[in-house]
Amino acid sequence: MRIGVLTGGGDCPGLNAVIRAVARRSWSRGHEVVGVREGWRGMIEQLFQPLGPEQISGILPRGGTIIGTTRTNPYKVDGGVDAVRRSFEELDALVAIGGEDTLGVAARLHREHSVNVVGVPKTIDNDLAGTDYTFGFDTAVAICTEAIDRLHTTAESHNRVMVVEVMGRHTGWIAVMSGIAGGADVILIPERPVDIDDVCSEIRRRHARGKNFSIVVVSEGCELPGAEDKGEVDQFGHRLLAKRGVGERLGHEIEHATGFETRVTVLGHIQRGGSPTARDRVLATRFGLKAADLVDEGKFGRMAALEGDDVVDVSLDEATAELKTVPDEWYEVGRAFFG
Ligand code: F6P
Repeated sequence: MRIGVLTGGGDCPGLNAVIRAVARRSWSRGHEVVGVREGWRGMIEQLFQPLGPEQISGILPRGGTIIGTTRTNPYKVDGGVDAVRRSFEELDALVAIGGEDTLGVAARLHREHSVNVVGVPKTIDNDLAGTDYTFGFDTAVAICTEAIDRLHTTAESHNRVMVVEVMGRHTGWIAVMSGIAGGADVILIPERPVDIDDVCSEIRRRHARGKNFSIVVVSEGCELPGAEDKGEVDQFGHRLLAKRGVGERLGHEIEHATGFETRVTVLGHIQRGGSPTARDRVLATRFGLKAADLVDEGKFGRMAALEGDDVVDVSLDEATAELKTVPDEWYEVGRAFFG
């Protein structure tokens, strides 16, 4: 078989570990593996590259993706779907590694055109349904937790409020997990409406009990009351959040309302760069092996997924039907330490 591998959407620590696992297992069965460069764009433009032992060597700990990635949506490009179908004629199967958008395209292509595709769930946001965790999330949480720890000491030295803006455009998984791990005093996530008065009361309550500094973790996807959205969107219709500055505006409002000196840190793409944690390397590797097995067994339209400690497969349609939001129980763990 000739098996293609593509990575789509935002990059994520662990992508190379998946590519390596797919390649190693597929070679051991006598299959050829090719990289499809730059996500779905590579399927539209037939940007194939060889993936042999030379390309795969040493990539397990490396961040990013050796085959590149874009947010191209073939359904939004003139003739895009026909071009992708022509590329499928050059391949016996495709392993698509991505989040809701990339895998949403894979699910639709499989549903509408019966193409031989399997999925691997990737996103630092951990918001893909059908799997308990996506790889990349653990690394992002570790980076945010370390940042929060560092901000604690400088916040305490200067008696400041520190607002930390983390990624998560639709869901607050990174904010909740890093907020719990870092001991945040307030955590704000897109799943819950933001009430600035409540935030300020928590901070005042904390300062009233003798703590002269506070850490507020906010997801980039949070809506602040009265905020205007500039409305720029990508090919999947998602707002471009990087320039919205939720953390900046929140910090300004907190300082204005409480009078406590406030500083803002936007962690941005640092959360996605660099080497994956051991946990993400292991998860990505297990997902890659599973994807290669699904291809070998002809189980197309399926996605590798984590269920408890087991790697299983679920339908791509189910996994991309809706996002996995943060359950109340998780938020309440963080909230027990507010103020
Ligand atoms: O989807 C992962 C993610 O990192 C989101 O958390 C974030 O909103 C988005 O990608 C940023 O995208 P870009 O790298 O295109 O600015």
